[in-house]
Amino acid sequence: MDMFVIQGGYPLSGRTTVSGAKNAALPIMAASLLADGMTTLHGVPDLVDVDTLAHLLRALGSQVERTESGDLTLEVLNTRPNLADYELVRRMRASVCVLGPLLARRGAACVSLPGGCNIGDRPIDLHLKGLKALGASIRVERGYVIAEAQRLRGANIYLGGPFGSTVTGTANVMAAATLAEGRTTIEAAACEPEVVDLGHYLNAMGARITGLGTPFLQIDGVERLHGVPHTIIPDRIEAATLMIAAAMTHGEVRIDNVRVDHMTAIIEKLREIGVTIDVNGTSVRVTTSGRLRSIDCIALPYPGVPTDVQAQLMALLTCASGISIVTDKVFPDRFMHLPELVRLGARIRREGNCAIVSGVGELSGASVMASDLRASAALVLAGLAATGESVIRRIYHLDRGYDQLEIKLNQLGAQIHRMVDEPQNMPASLTLSVSDKAEDTSDPTHELRGPTWLKRMGITPRTEA
Ligand code: EPU
Repeated sequence: MDMFVIQGGYPLSGRTTVSGAKNAALPIMAASLLADGMTTLHGVPDLVDVDTLAHLLRALGSQVERTESGDLTLEVLNTRPNLADYELVRRMRASVCVLGPLLARRGAACVSLPGGCNIGDRPIDLHLKGLKALGASIRVERGYVIAEAQRLRGANIYLGGPFGSTVTGTANVMAAATLAEGRTTIEAAACEPEVVDLGHYLNAMGARITGLGTPFLQIDGVERLHGVPHTIIPDRIEAATLMIAAAMTHGEVRIDNVRVDHMTAIIEKLREIGVTIDVNGTSVRVTTSGRLRSIDCIALPYPGVPTDVQAQLMALLTCASGISIVTDKVFPDRFMHLPELVRLGARIRREGNCAIVSGVGELSGASVMASDLRASAALVLAGLAATGESVIRRIYHLDRGYDQLEIKLNQLGAQIHRMVDEPQNMPASLTLSVSDKAEDTSDPTHELRGPTWLKRMGITPRTEA
């Protein structure tokens, strides 16, 4: 397993580019199962999650290849397989996006239930409700969803749930309805740009979907769809992460390939915090002057502040002056990053689906553990801003969803080293010497603690290799 060793405190400067959106690429790749002929996708990010889905699609009879120019080509060669095995689905929840396309195109699908997740409960009841409304017979047996239908029939479907709309649920039902007989309407559809991008891809393939980007979709079923070229939208969550990296290090960074129209709420919040964002077409220049300010921030479905930047914004707010309140109304338990940020010196208290963040002057490097994709990003950001050295373990989460994040950050002047997480690779500065003044040296976890604690314990970190 890899880990990052980050030397913090270097302001970022220079220019970087945002990759294609993971959460657009995955459902679009899954929707290629609906088409006759070849789909060519431009701008698919180079991610472990993309590789996992490509693996699953191959198991389902598709040929999936990365061309020399970086495009992804997908073509269904065999329409018989319909099993999405647990071994692949458990690695990535977005695998469930094959359910609707398989059912609509092949009349049957056997897809593993995705199982638990570090960011909270993630049921798929709304996906199943929508597909049942389209006339599918659905049962859950031995951890698998078994769905069957001769031909799906259009229906009026309400897809709202206790936490608002569902992104991949809308993707699944919308994709399935494209080949249903007659008209489908979906109310309380997700409005996320990634769902809109999927809709544009489906329409280019011959589907008839209107209302994209609104909570009310109308889909007139067609007989068949055909593969097309399509360009994936830029990743708004990566763009936000890079903006926050620039702000947290008080740097000056120009970020290209940004769809600012997808980022209104995020940009608004960053400006409220005191980050300067100058927009020029699809480029933004991010700078700061003076201390950052606290804010109240609620993660909501689009067009609200995305839950996928909640952790990164929290990392930023740990360095702002005053008390901020960060609420997550999409995933009320998505706070695994909180105790790890505290290890880096942050002051945060959780109250239900809220975190109360008291800004501290500065963070201090420590060893921390990443729990999920966006939590990993938040810890990297905090490590960039902290004084001294931080070690972030389990960064495989980051590799699932960020295209070369540490390379991009290092090109901007960050000091991030990827190392294999083995005892002999402990960074030099965390090889400890213990002075006579130590109050308690019996704690076997002392090598994992941060510099402030070490100082209090009378332990001097050795800096030589
Ligand atoms: N929900 C239900 N029933 C359902 C589906 C969802 O109650 O059938 C609830 C969920 O438990 C959650 C809320 O509805 O509280 C929203 O979940 P949603 O279905 O929208 O999430 P998702 O489709 O599983 C996608 C992204 C997530 C992102 C969420 C919210 C992809 C592949 N994943 O997940 O991305 O956080 O929408 O915007 O598109 C990430 O990239 O790090 C990530 C987790």
